[in-house]
Amino acid sequence: MAKKTILTGDRPTGKLHIGHYVGSLKNRVELQNSGDYDTYIMIADQQALTDNARDPEKIRHSLIQVALDYLAVGIDPAKSTILVQSQIPALNELTMHYLNIVTVSRISRNPTVKTEIKQKKFGESVPAGFFIYPVSQAADITAFKADTVPVGDDQEPMLEQTREIVRSFNSIYDKDILVEPEGYFPTKGQGRIPGLDGNAKMSKSLNNAIYLSDDADTVSKKVMSMYTDPEHIKVSDPGHVEGNTVFTYLDIFDPDKDQVAKLKEQYQAGGLGDVKIKRYLNEVLEETLKPIRERRSQYEQDIDYVYQILKEGSEKANIVANQTLKEVRDAIGINYFK
Ligand code: TRP
Repeated sequence: MAKKTILTGDRPTGKLHIGHYVGSLKNRVELQNSGDYDTYIMIADQQALTDNARDPEKIRHSLIQVALDYLAVGIDPAKSTILVQSQIPALNELTMHYLNIVTVSRISRNPTVKTEIKQKKFGESVPAGFFIYPVSQAADITAFKADTVPVGDDQEPMLEQTREIVRSFNSIYDKDILVEPEGYFPTKGQGRIPGLDGNAKMSKSLNNAIYLSDDADTVSKKVMSMYTDPEHIKVSDPGHVEGNTVFTYLDIFDPDKDQVAKLKEQYQAGGLGDVKIKRYLNEVLEETLKPIRERRSQYEQDIDYVYQILKEGSEKANIVANQTLKEVRDAIGINYFK
């Protein structure tokens, strides 16, 4: 069976946290190890710059943090190509060609772009580069002829828009060059992991995240500060497990489901204290986080080597993207000189 091709990526705007781990990174490592895919993982620095043009240092710094997080969770450069978006010039030209077959009103209707424009409070000053990022994302995906794009649920509109561009391009130029991608949503319906404070979203701006780079002491302090059940005051009080962040995390991270069921029962009956259950959660989290942290600190000692991995991944990616660009140029007929 021919291998399928995966392309996915992240905007480097900060270090990655355990929400990224359960929501996507863990799944990427499994897909990579399955051997069924050619896997490309893109650090989308150029997309990150679309709303950070005045703070390039943040993106530059985050790029290496994200690369370290990838390597720490087990993304293996021998199995996956890790590439840096800004180092693949063909993506820009593909974007320009696609912009000619997409309308302004179609991008305006993209629900994710709409939501983000509101959230980011651009007002009347939406950067044009930000506005068109769905088209640049279509270039990312199609440059590698990816058929499988593992992403969060919020990226579905990007996939839809990419498929439309692929269909338009292939039909206008009457060639079967570009490939329609399918989204792959590993956590569909599961909701995301809540923040430490019980907020539905874990994020840097809410200051409620556990980072893959946090040391053991920091993780333990964060766990001890977690939101539980405000009505559970005395140890003997019966407690609630729904909406109790500690139990939500145990459901996600503890492989011993019987043990979790037993603890829930005890907590609901009364007699199980928050400190005790948090200590237990901390041990469970460490099972996942300790090996990640150790691998991360090894790579941190050789940042030059990490840049080398990104350089080699980008070189490999350039070969593939340049080939697609050549086919696109030939199809349009802008290949004047032999
Ligand atoms: N927009 C994606 C995000 O915010 C990041 C991204 C950029 C991406 N290019 C991509 C994801 C291509 C999948 C495929 O998470």
